[in-house]
Amino acid sequence: MNTFEIDNKYIAQTYKRFPVTLVEGKGSLAYDDKGKEYIDLAGGIAVNIFGYCDEAWQSAVCAQAGQLSHTSNLYYTQPASVLAKLLVEKSKMSRVFFGNSGAEANECAIKLARKYSQDKYGEARHKILCLKNSFHGRTLTTLAATGQDVFHKDFKPLTPGFVHCEPTKEALNEALKDENICAIMMETIQGEGGINVLSKEFVHEAYYQAQKRDIILIVDEIQTGLGRTGEFFDYMNYSIYPDIVTVAKGLGGGLPIGACIFGKKLENTFAFGDHGSTFGGNPIACAGALSVVERIDEEVFEGVKVRNKIITDSISISPKVKEITGRGLMLGIEISGDVDKAVAECLENGVLVIKAKNKIRLLPALNIPFPQLTKALAVLIKAINES
Ligand SMILES: Cc1ncc(COP(=O)(O)O)c(C=O)c1O
Repeated sequence: MNTFEIDNKYIAQTYKRFPVTLVEGKGSLAYDDKGKEYIDLAGGIAVNIFGYCDEAWQSAVCAQAGQLSHTSNLYYTQPASVLAKLLVEKSKMSRVFFGNSGAEANECAIKLARKYSQDKYGEARHKILCLKNSFHGRTLTTLAATGQDVFHKDFKPLTPGFVHCEPTKEALNEALKDENICAIMMETIQGEGGINVLSKEFVHEAYYQAQKRDIILIVDEIQTGLGRTGEFFDYMNYSIYPDIVTVAKGLGGGLPIGACIFGKKLENTFAFGDHGSTFGGNPIACAGALSVVERIDEEVFEGVKVRNKIITDSISISPKVKEITGRGLMLGIEISGDVDKAVAECLENGVLVIKAKNKIRLLPALNIPFPQLTKALAVLIKAINES
């Protein structure tokens, strides 16, 4: 049996995979089992911030694996505490809870917001206001937060206490007439929803209303965070200051880790025993994350902006491109042609791109070398033109 056959027989068939078995990767290049090379513009869905098997990441992970692999959260460990300090400094928040995925980071954020509100205002004030078309994860609670019925339909009942509105000032204020709302949760750029950038007007209103009403503002930066949009977190592009920011994907540089980072208002909300995770703060994952986070600086942000310009300038020339949405290196391309055909054509010609709803989605490594980017764009433009 080959890998396709084994996978199809033994793995839960929840992902429709591309017909390729990847066996190796270095930087922004991946190789399949036949030795074919691909330039990766999808970055493992925003995970491989510095590409595959980045050298600093690899040596940090290998060194930690040879020193202390796992202890449990019953003991202090250095990588988790150093990483938490760094994340707090970069975000100007107060504390971090480590989990293993984006969904877990969001679960933590929801628990934290509810506890803050219930301690202060009683149990009835527990509702989380989320946005239509959002995506926050696949657990039953983060599915409830997700504003897309397509993900809900076969799994009801979902966790109660979630309401959704359109990302407009009017819809927000209408929804906030419900006095039992304790948190507003949003992605500033909706990723799985089709790379939709929230307007400044909406985000500022949400921030203002949250402050005014002592509502917890949660920003899900699982796809947008860690330099991808030209700032450490995308909320910084709006000059707002949320109470909670959640992050995962790129954080581990390829290892599973998620973090719920929260501000002063919430710093003493959780008490011993309120939340936990066996693998949360795992030393190997944290050592890998540390090697990624400590390198995300102004130079990286500048590099993101330069690459964004190269991509948007060249792609927008195609007559089949209707719109390019997103920011930095999180981009959606709407075309008048067949998106699936264009994505397949790219794969055939050695370029990895993915979809977000009806758009071609690009999430390359933040340090993709310029010659590789230019070469991949030529393939992509041809595929779009012929789609
Ligand atoms: C914005 C956002 N939130 C949450 C998640 C869920 O993250 P995970 O798959 O790590 O649970 C994702 C994953 O795509 C995401 O894009």
